[in-house]
Amino acid sequence: MPVERRVDPTDGSSYTWEEFSDFYTGQYKKKEIAAYWETCTVLKKGKAAAKAKAKSKAKAKAAPKAKAKAKAKAKAKAKTRKPPGAFKVCVCGGAGGIGQPLCLLMAESPLVSELAIIDLNVAAVPAPGVAADLSHLEGKCKVSSCVLTLNEDKAIDKAGAALTGCDLVLIPAGVPRKPGQDRKDLLNINANIAKGTVEAVAKFAPNAVVGLIVNPVNSVVPAMCELWKKQGLDPKKIVGISTLDVVRANKFVYEITGKQAEIPVIGGHAGKTILPLFSQDLAGRSIDAAKIPDLDVRPNGYQHQHQ
Ligand SMILES: NC(=O)c1ccc[n+]([C@@H]2O[C@H](COP(=O)([O-])OP(=O)(O)OC[C@H]3O[C@@H](n4cnc5c(N)ncnc54)[C@H](O)[C@@H]3O)[C@@H](O)[C@H]2O)c1
Repeated sequence: MPVERRVDPTDGSSYTWEEFSDFYTGQYKKKEIAAYWETCTVLKKGKAAAKAKAKSKAKAKAAPKAKAKAKAKAKAKAKTRKPPGAFKVCVCGGAGGIGQPLCLLMAESPLVSELAIIDLNVAAVPAPGVAADLSHLEGKCKVSSCVLTLNEDKAIDKAGAALTGCDLVLIPAGVPRKPGQDRKDLLNINANIAKGTVEAVAKFAPNAVVGLIVNPVNSVVPAMCELWKKQGLDPKKIVGISTLDVVRANKFVYEITGKQAEIPVIGGHAGKTILPLFSQDLAGRSIDAAKIPDLDVRPNGYQHQHQ
């Protein structure tokens, strides 16, 4: 009787119950492991046989040293990885214009089990109110909030509980550009806001990925990478969020062609540094080359000064 194998969605490999429970024991309770096993897809017979055959072949060839190395690596991986659905996310500036819909998306994501919302006491909508509303969504996500008093509280002193254990920290906290202000004014204000949060993340969640949404993304990201490096942390964990440019490019192409598109956008997140590669998508490629320059500089529909 062949032993049943199931596919673990976190790495796409198949395991027997024995291998699977061995892998997760020590990280999770037996009950949780069993519940997670129930969510994994059973590997079909043909595939199982082929995989088992390939595995035994590999086993016969593997040198004992290589096997020991692989085992140690798997053990280290097991210690650091979380099963899907157990991620903690914090949105700093989560009660603002971008922050609120972002928090809704996070609270609804099946990957997220905990969401912490940080914002100021002067936010137009109070962070505890946003958290209360989102905590009533059906689903497992627990939502909490942390309020910082403007010009008094620092994230590093007050946001420890919100940030500890975070896998992802998203930062839309900042101010949009006001009439009369130039990009440099915006940079000074917003880079300082980001700095306060990033310093606190370095202390309480040094393994988290930090997604910077606050503008000017092109300048705030490298500045925060330097700060992160000074703390001895991996600057590749600091990323700028420019999904908006991809979404817009896809929409503009759809409006012309009526076809769904996935336009890769490279470069930065301001003016000419945004480079949508229309030629790299089937629908984008079908657009007359003469129309591309206009499409490339197309405004977003209203004059959003700060983007
Ligand atoms: N990357 C992108 O694609 C993209 C898209 C839109 C907006 N943005 C940028 O995102 C930022 C936010 O835009 P918005 O429209 O949400 O502005 P908003 O004013 O509506 O929201 C900002 C929120 O940040 C909070 N905040 C300010 N300082 C804080 C601090 N020190 N700690 C915690 N919270 C703090 C404010 O109280 C407010 O609730 C702006 O810089 C904007 O330019 C970026």
